Amino acid sequence: MLLQEKVAIITGGGSGMGRAMARLFDSQGAKVVVADVNGAAARQTAEALTGDSVAAVTDVTAEAQVKELTEQVIGRYGKVDILVNNAGMPMSFTPIEEVSGEQWNRIMDVNVKSVYLTAKYVVPHMKRQGFGVIVNTASIAGVRARPGLNAYCASKGAVIMLTKALAIELAPYKIRVNGINPGPADTPMLPRFMNGDQEQIERETKEIFLSSVPLGSLIQPEDVAQAALYLCSDMAKLVTGEILHVDGGRGI
Ligand SMILES: NC(=O)c1ccc[n+]([C@@H]2O[C@H](COP(=O)([O-])OP(=O)(O)OC[C@H]3O[C@@H](n4cnc5c(N)ncnc54)[C@H](O)[C@@H]3O)[C@@H](O)[C@H]2O)c1
Repeated sequence: MLLQEKVAIITGGGSGMGRAMARLFDSQGAKVVVADVNGAAARQTAEALTGDSVAAVTDVTAEAQVKELTEQVIGRYGKVDILVNNAGMPMSFTPIEEVSGEQWNRIMDVNVKSVYLTAKYVVPHMKRQGFGVIVNTASIAGVRARPGLNAYCASKGAVIMLTKALAIELAPYKIRVNGINPGPADTPMLPRFMNGDQEQIERETKEIFLSSVPLGSLIQPEDVAQAALYLCSDMAKLVTGEILHVDGGRGI
């Protein structure tokens, strides 16, 4: 049991990697707060967990909702040990001149501003506790670009640097901050990086994403969850400011 009695907020816990993390953390003794804008999905994840876990309908781009989430967690458990900023949104291949200001801002809000907002409200409690772990799900796209994913790549690059900035700022308070760069992963998000009909999307998933992974398979949500477990546990007690690639070699 690597996370016995730990209280963990996992954003985007209603699907894909977030759901896999919730399951794994639960199996390791954590009390998991499954925070997701999709309430039904969050509840579905939480109901399948065995520990004292709960779903929290939260839009991580809305400051009032993040504040309320934090207050609810402190009210229920009295502490927050782990924060996983995993919620994110993709973009499909779009030439830069066709990216609207609205789309740009939305991607930055969901993928980057969310990390600022959760830190703003959760970090004061971690400082008070003298303990805390934050893990941010960035992407291999944050260091290795693809054409047409301009805003997404920029947003994940920002998450990587924000991870390091928070790691150095919060180290004196014994709060560790790390990131994970998943490669192309077998989740509901993957097809949303592409345009076209179902047949074209399936073909391009293979041609573009699968073929770019040297180890030859898409990353499974559970692979990313294992990395998150390591970073959140005491096995990584002297690891901070690190970005762990779980990408089958895509980033080499
Ligand atoms: N799937 C991939 O190929 C891939 C690769 C690298 C990185 N990532 C990143 O991994 C993370 C998890 O992605 P996934 O593949 O599991 O995707 P997913 O679509 O399966 O899950 C994402 C979850 O985030 C939630 N979410 C979206 N916007 C939200 C908001 N404003 N507030 C709260 N929750 C919100 C969704 O409801 C969903 O449950 C994301 O940050 C994504 O950018 C994905």
